[in-house]
Amino acid sequence: MTTTATTPAAPRPRAEIPARTLRTDRWWLAPVLTFAGLTAWVAYPTVRGFLQKWYFALGDHYRYLTPFYSPCTSRACDPEAAEFGRFVPANALLPFAIFSLPFLGLFRLTCYYYRRAYYRSFWLSPPACAVPDGHQRYTGETRFPLIFQNAHRYAFYAAVIISLINSWDAIRSFDGRHGFGFGLGNVILVGNVLLLWAYTLSCHSCRHITGGRLKHFSRHPLRYRFWLFVSKLNAKHMLLAWVTLGTLMLTDIYVLAVSAQWISDLRFIG
Ligand code: FES
Repeated sequence: MTTTATTPAAPRPRAEIPARTLRTDRWWLAPVLTFAGLTAWVAYPTVRGFLQKWYFALGDHYRYLTPFYSPCTSRACDPEAAEFGRFVPANALLPFAIFSLPFLGLFRLTCYYYRRAYYRSFWLSPPACAVPDGHQRYTGETRFPLIFQNAHRYAFYAAVIISLINSWDAIRSFDGRHGFGFGLGNVILVGNVLLLWAYTLSCHSCRHITGGRLKHFSRHPLRYRFWLFVSKLNAKHMLLAWVTLGTLMLTDIYVLAVSAQWISDLRFIG
């Protein structure tokens, strides 16, 4: 049997399309909304972190500490709010939660979902599918400064520790000057921390840590179950990323309003 060698056809040149994109839908809406949402969200905690007041509300039956000031480690912190010690010098330029805010920022900044969001909306790289990149060259995440995106896994470990601290705050929120109570603030703090855990555990790094590099799931049934659980959360990672931005802000505004005595906590018990 004889075979005939065939010469591969020369690639056809791409069609000359003068239009920047052929998309006719409102592809720009998502990046514009993302830009507005993320800008507002970065501005809020930045201003709030330097305000250095109205972060803690202690009543007869409640103890509310906003997550933006937890752990409160500045020497200027209210002693009742500083459950992990006050050892950071009091300074207007040092946020009270100097040990958590930078890591939380890094965790969100290097998050795979937020990367997609801000690459599209801030860097236009590219702003949407089938829309040209806003830049001439694409160098990826293999060189400075974007190579630091690879630190995400380490930021995840820090976020787990901070979620544990937030959980402690939520538990302590039921304990006021005269003991146990239950109010709307508790519902908000507990709801916020549950959603923070859902966001943290839905992280792609967490999914890899729980189930990655295993050759046989059958030999690791516990890890397999946890990986299944994390995978389900992971499918909702984008949603959780946005919902937790909202709940963090809501929690902070509620604590601020109670602490500033603009409103009183709605009490159910105590
Ligand atoms: S991928 Fe989003 S938090 Fe890890």
